[in-house]
Amino acid sequence: MKEKIVLAYSGGVDTSVAIKWLQEKYNVDVIAVTIDVGNEKDFAAVKQKALKMGAIKARVIDAKESFVKYFVYPALQANALYEGQYPLATALSRPLMAKLLVDTAVAEGASAIAHGCTGKGNDQVRFEVGINSLAPDMKIMAPAREWGMTREQTIKYALDHEIPIPVTKKSPYSIDENLWGKSIECGALEDPWTEPPADVYTWTKSPDEAPAKPQYVEITFEKGIPTAIDGKEMPGIALVQRMNEIAGRHGIGRIDHIENRVVGIKSREIYEAPAAVLLIQAHQALEAICLSKDQLRFKQKVSVECADLIYNGLWFSQLNRDLSAYILSSQRYVTGTVRVKLFKGNATVVGRKSPWSLYNLSLATYDKGDKFNQKDAEGFIRLWGLPVKTQAQIQLLPDKESPLGIMGPDGEEKK
Ligand code: ARG
Repeated sequence: MKEKIVLAYSGGVDTSVAIKWLQEKYNVDVIAVTIDVGNEKDFAAVKQKALKMGAIKARVIDAKESFVKYFVYPALQANALYEGQYPLATALSRPLMAKLLVDTAVAEGASAIAHGCTGKGNDQVRFEVGINSLAPDMKIMAPAREWGMTREQTIKYALDHEIPIPVTKKSPYSIDENLWGKSIECGALEDPWTEPPADVYTWTKSPDEAPAKPQYVEITFEKGIPTAIDGKEMPGIALVQRMNEIAGRHGIGRIDHIENRVVGIKSREIYEAPAAVLLIQAHQALEAICLSKDQLRFKQKVSVECADLIYNGLWFSQLNRDLSAYILSSQRYVTGTVRVKLFKGNATVVGRKSPWSLYNLSLATYDKGDKFNQKDAEGFIRLWGLPVKTQAQIQLLPDKESPLGIMGPDGEEKK
C-alpha cells in the first residue's frame, strides 16, 4: 500500500503542481484538504481540480465560524496589528489550518502533511511550528521548498502536466484571502518605489472613486466583540462580511506595508482589510472611554506582543494563552456603541457611548455643573513638580552657559 499524505490545497498553481509532483517523486497517495476561511472561492471547482490532478480524496472544510470566533475576534479584542499596520489575516488562518490538517491526517492514517509554501515566507514557519506542536511525530513535507523551481519553471511544469493556471502574465500577484483580509505580493509590488497598480485592489474602491457622500455606521460591541451594525444584531461571519462591503465601498482598508519577515528579509505586501481596519479603529475608540489610562497603556504593550506572536507563528505557545487571558479580562467593560463616518478612504470616529463609560461630563465640562474642584490643582501641582523643581535648582540653572538646558538637533546647546 502507498503512503498517504495530507496536502494543504488552495487550488492555486503551487499546490496543484504539488499534487502531481508528490505523486511522481515519492509515489504517494495525496489527500487534498482545502480549508474555507472565507476566501470566497468556488470550492466545488477546487475539489474537482484536486481530484483531476490525481488526489485520491479531496476534502473541503468550512472553518469560517471557528476562524471568526477563536482567531479573528480575539485578535480584534487585542487590536493586533503587526508593526502597527497589518491586521494579520493570513497569519491568523495558519494555526487553524495546522489544527485541521493534523486532525485530518490522524483520521486518514496519513504519515505526513505537506504544504505549498516556499522557503522564504512566514507561512511555512506558522504551518510547521503549528503541526509540530500538535503532532510532534508527524512528518512534514514542503515540496515548493524542495523542488527548486522558479515561478516560470513552476508554470511550465503546470503547462506540461495540463494543470490549469489562474495566474496570467497580466496578473502576476501572489494572493491569499480570508474573511479578515486579502494579502497581495509579487509582480510590480516588489519595487517599493512603484505605486501599487490599480488591479491589485479588488475589495476596496479607490478613494477618488468612492461615493461623494459620507456614510455613517454604528457598531455595537459587547465585551469587545462586535454584535450589531446600525442596531441590527448580526452573527460574526455576516458582520465581518458586511463591514468588508461597507468600508470597502468607501475605499477604507488599503495598507502598503514594508514588513519584517520571520526569516529575516524585508518584503513589501499590500493588504486590503476594510472590516479589520474599521473594527479595530472603532474598538480602540470604545476602549478609550471604557478603560482607565493605566489599562490602556498596558494593553498597548500586550497588543504588540500578541501581534508579534501571531505573526511569528507561535499561536500554540503558553504565552499566547497567558496574553489571551489578560486581553479577555481587559474586555469586561468594553461594551457600547461607536459611530464612524466613512468618506473617501477615511474612517473617522465621530461618536462613542457606553454604559460603563469613564468619561464624566461633570468633571470634564467647562460649563455649569462643573464638579471638579479647581482649588485641588494647586497642591497637586506643587507635589507633582517637586522633583523637577528640585533638580532644576541644583543641576540645571547653575549651568550659566546653558540656562535653557535644551539641545538642538545638531547636539549644540541653545544659549
Ligand atoms: N506577509 C503576510 C504574512 O506573512 C502574507 C503572506 C501571504 N501572502 C501572499 N500574498 N500570498 O502574514
